[in-house]
Amino acid sequence: MKKAVILGTGSSLPERILTNAELEQVVDTSDEWVTSRTGIRMRRIAGTNEQNYQLATSAGRRALADAGIQPEELDLIVVATISPHMIMPSTACFVQAELGAVNAFAYDINAACAGFTYGLDLARNYIHSRPDMKILLIGAETLSARVNWADRNTCVLFGDGAGAAVLSGCGDGRGIFGTNLHADGRLWKLLFMDSPESRNPDLQREDWQGAFIQMNGSDIFKYAVRLMAESVNSLLTSHAIGVDDISLMIPHQANIRILKNLRDRLGVPEEKVFINVDKYGNTSAASIPIALDEANRQGRLVRGKIVLLCTFGGGLTWGSLLMRW
Ligand code: ACO
Repeated sequence: MKKAVILGTGSSLPERILTNAELEQVVDTSDEWVTSRTGIRMRRIAGTNEQNYQLATSAGRRALADAGIQPEELDLIVVATISPHMIMPSTACFVQAELGAVNAFAYDINAACAGFTYGLDLARNYIHSRPDMKILLIGAETLSARVNWADRNTCVLFGDGAGAAVLSGCGDGRGIFGTNLHADGRLWKLLFMDSPESRNPDLQREDWQGAFIQMNGSDIFKYAVRLMAESVNSLLTSHAIGVDDISLMIPHQANIRILKNLRDRLGVPEEKVFINVDKYGNTSAASIPIALDEANRQGRLVRGKIVLLCTFGGGLTWGSLLMRW
């Protein structure tokens, strides 16, 4: 049976770099605090002509070029995002128009930071039923437009960017072969971004504080480490795969301390874990595809070798995925 294989990757980062030193002018923080607590040294901030759909389009274009596929060949475009350009139409529709992907249907998904991994599972299932399908999956965020720049607990953590992958069916044994996905909506209050205030007076809420990210950092930290570790262990066990069989682990880039804790729990050596959180901060649904593209372009993804993704985000949503590159 043909499996869903990534044929090409791409990414797009805003030009503007915001360092921790610059953030010291915005909120009561310090480079030392942010670097030691999170590993983040800088993040990218979107500017003119770097709207969510524009970053998404440029990442998608690069992934198509890497895959050697024309936009008209695409059957489906999916964008994972929690910071869409508009609520309607979807960011995917903007991307479809920008690319001229006239034969593709298009929609967005929201699984917060887990969006790209959920999207890979979605693409995998489409391709199982129609192996010739060509799917462009993008994770794109402009979180700088959605954080409260007066809240030092959150504004130092997030950044903007987009990453993309083109997938289709392949019968040579490579491709996605396992996923382990979860959600627990009971824990939504630990990390959320509210909607704009209701225009319907009857639906206005007394607890509405603004349409930006709010978080309980220490609880998120504990759940992230525990739930990602449980997911990975369960996935590896179900496929009779050991940590030694993994050639590269690409985790969601939230925070270096979460990643170090996770790495220690799983027993994955440091050199097998891809990290770029220092450069981009937490780009939510874009974090894994940006990392995947960088790993690809650095030659760290070896044909036929096993790659492990793991992810965690608001919802709560979390999970892990195995593929043979
Ligand atoms: N600069 C300076 N001080 C700060 C800052 C800041 N940017 N942010 C918070 N503080 C203060 C708090 O106000 C608090 O002060 P108080 O004790 O006077 O009330 C104090 O620092 C808290 O310090 P610590 O307990 O040492 O903080 P902690 O070690 O828990 O680190 C952090 C906080 C970095 C948020 C941590 O909890 C964390 O990484 N959580 C995970 C959050 C995350 O990654 N979220 C992303 C979304 S989810 C995901 O993608 C996985």
